[in-house]
Amino acid sequence: MVVDVLLGLQWGDEGKGKVVDYLAPQYDVVARFQGGPNAGHTLVFGGQKYVLHTIPSGIFHDNLINLIGNGVVIDPITLAKEIESLHQAGVPVVERLCLARKAHLILPTHRYLDAAAEAAKGKARIGSTLKGIGPTYMDKTGRNGLRVGDTTTAGFEDKYQSLKAKHLALAKMYPETAFDLVQEEARWMESLEILRRLQLVDSEYFINDLLAQGKKILAEGAQGAMLDIDFGTYPYVTSSNTIAAGVCTGLGVAPSHIGEVIGITKAYCTRVGAGPFPTEQLNETGEFLRREGKEFGATTGRPRRCGWLDLPQLCYSVMLSGVTQLAVTKIDVLNALETIQIATHYRYDGHLARQLPYDLNVTDIEPVYQTFSGWQQSLSSVRQFEMLPNAAQVYLQFIEQEIGIPIRMVSTGPERESLLVR
Ligand code: GDP
Ligand code: IMO
Ligand code: MG
Repeated sequence: MVVDVLLGLQWGDEGKGKVVDYLAPQYDVVARFQGGPNAGHTLVFGGQKYVLHTIPSGIFHDNLINLIGNGVVIDPITLAKEIESLHQAGVPVVERLCLARKAHLILPTHRYLDAAAEAAKGKARIGSTLKGIGPTYMDKTGRNGLRVGDTTTAGFEDKYQSLKAKHLALAKMYPETAFDLVQEEARWMESLEILRRLQLVDSEYFINDLLAQGKKILAEGAQGAMLDIDFGTYPYVTSSNTIAAGVCTGLGVAPSHIGEVIGITKAYCTRVGAGPFPTEQLNETGEFLRREGKEFGATTGRPRRCGWLDLPQLCYSVMLSGVTQLAVTKIDVLNALETIQIATHYRYDGHLARQLPYDLNVTDIEPVYQTFSGWQQSLSSVRQFEMLPNAAQVYLQFIEQEIGIPIRMVSTGPERESLLVR
């Protein structure tokens, strides 16, 4: 059996949570493989909205295992809060959730260092969610980190104190930042108790046993390809591999087990935080997209930057992850527009290109746009692709042809049922 993968192809917030929730009944396991509580995945059904940060988006379905893999970084405080709010919503989360022993822990001092380092960057700040992601992955690769499994072994308290002392020494490099370490530490220790009561697994054996039993697994990406630590708009990126390759190291599955790679893109483009965004619209169009798309961060509430769809960027993401099918979300946000634009190429260094330059931060790029007619009608009664207005079909078919990958899903609203499957 195989692991299908679902990934964001832009700068995050493409609607991954919604589509994973829709697809979940077709799978036995939904697994997160990277990122941490910097993610905010929104699910809307039964008139309710839920936002998940660390817990996979399959959690609302019966008979389904939700696995948080070794590649994810865990803040026990956020996780405990998420578990509590799911309990209140009547979800038997502890029965459905497994957590990798090898997943690294976000300490309160990781969050402190994140905040202090960002503040010290001044104008060059990345716009981090300040969830401690960067410092935690630094400790992981620097071989200093603490892992979930350590919390149940002797000597944990000493390891914690020694890492905290290291962090406090490092913190002296930065001007002081407001942070109640005593209170945060107390909350953290309390939350560890909840974490210890979860089903802790050696996720690499766990997942390969499930594969051997013929179970179907869906790997749920966080962030998007352009925030990938290697291939994104560095240094304005997150600290994990958000592309399909991250699934193998973040869960312990071999590349030969990867099946379909479902890439998600909005029908336009957004980014939250700093960094290059070639098709950004710092004008009425951008404001229109933000308003219609309710483009405010699910984790931080920050307004998202908005712009047109960017084909050079999308082709790059599709190439990096070997995407086999596309899901296009938020097409309804474009309903009222008379015309819609897509950047088909970039002009830079005196030529027209589909290829991204080495450094988007320093290259002067002029996107070249093609204009499409809008459909100027609601899509709320549309139940299948063929019922979409002609102009919407033309728009989608153009994307499909240019990228060379079939569009299998089109999302027409935030609710679970607002999805056209081809
Ligand atoms: P994720 O991080 O990729 O899971 O995406 P987010 O949840 O951060 O952001 C996507 C936002 O768009 C959420 O508020 C969703 O409820 C909403 N959404 C998802 N799909 C659609 C859609 O097709 N149309 C509209 N209007 N909203 C959508
Ligand atoms: P989901 O899974 C959008 C952005 C932050 C910042 C940069 C680094 O909901 O799509 P970090 O906290 O990782 O140090 O922030 O990455 N970022 C996201 N933007 N969606 C996300 O996740 C994001 N996770 C991080 O805004 O620019
Ligand atoms: Mg999000």
